[in-house]
Amino acid sequence: MRIAFVGKGGSGKTTLSSLFIRHLAAGGAPVVAVDADINQHLGAALGLDETEAAALPAMGEHLPLIKDYLRGTNPRIASADTMIKTTPPGEGSRLMRVCEDNPVYDACARPVELDGGAVRLMVTGPFTDADVGVTCYHSKTGAVELCLNHLVDGPGEYVVVDMTAGSDSFASGLFTRFDLTFLVAEPTRKGVSVYRQYKEYARDFGVALKVVGNKVQGPDDLDFLRAEVGEDLLVTVGHSDWVRAMEKGRPPRFALLEEPNRDALRRLHTAADAAYALRDRERYTRQMVHFHLKNAQSWGNERTGTDLAAQVDPGFVLGGQVTASV
Ligand SMILES: Nc1ncnc2c1ncn2[C@@H]1O[C@H](COP(=O)(O)OP(=O)(O)OP(=O)(O)O)[C@@H](O)[C@H]1O
Ligand SMILES: [Mg+2]
Repeated sequence: MRIAFVGKGGSGKTTLSSLFIRHLAAGGAPVVAVDADINQHLGAALGLDETEAAALPAMGEHLPLIKDYLRGTNPRIASADTMIKTTPPGEGSRLMRVCEDNPVYDACARPVELDGGAVRLMVTGPFTDADVGVTCYHSKTGAVELCLNHLVDGPGEYVVVDMTAGSDSFASGLFTRFDLTFLVAEPTRKGVSVYRQYKEYARDFGVALKVVGNKVQGPDDLDFLRAEVGEDLLVTVGHSDWVRAMEKGRPPRFALLEEPNRDALRRLHTAADAAYALRDRERYTRQMVHFHLKNAQSWGNERTGTDLAAQVDPGFVLGGQVTASV
């Protein structure tokens, strides 16, 4: 299943996604962790030192390889050059699985050892000012979208994406590619206003959204979030000394994470599993096509000199190919 963490800058997206990834790994689940946030900190939050984090390959730099691999022998996609970030898979396309080796993982993923087992980490690469809000060809998150659109993932397998709530993901449809989106919100007006904006986009596409309150310090904070967010509030997390120790470069064993925070992670896990069970593959594929046609019209056709609508394979539904590895 696919889980995204979004929210305002500094709300705790990276912290909570890294804790959730550690929780999944501790339970032995296969995990692909993806850093698609403007500030690329997921590697560090998973315990990599500066040198290790800097050595991670950037997905954005491997787009030609990613496109060429995923295109496979799909006759509707004449070349990797005509493949844009929203190009949907069809007959002949290569699909990715969470548990397998493939050239995309070889080029873009690195193993990160955590308590309980290793996860695969992929990062988009650092954003520059010129990348922010870019909707077209050079979008840094395009590689993530392509991979998700070609991924068949079974129950018990997790792709966790640390992402911004920015315009990039709304324009491209990336925000609709998840079984469940956790919106991390501090108990502040700004935190809650990002939730409202996201909710608005999400509503039209049936995106499942739950709020994770972070840095919640007492009954006042909790009351505020409950009043502003209502039943979308799934759980709250308080200040964590474990996180603070990790930030100092002295991560304690994961088993020592505070019990209330462990409990919060279990509840995220349960919610994610429940969301996967509700996945509607046909709607998922329909939305993929919807965003492709939208991007084709607004810039893709012109940029590639091709009628990109012809890339859509009308008989194809992503996910019919699923085989669980657990
Ligand atoms: N529950 C928590 N307990 C202690 N510290 C926390 C907690 N949540 C977040 N922090 C701290 O707050 C800071 C911001 O968190 P984090 O980097 O996860 O936010 P972010 O939303 O990913 O930010 P950015 O938008 O910069 O990517 C970090 O220093 C982090 O360690
Ligand atoms: Mg972050």
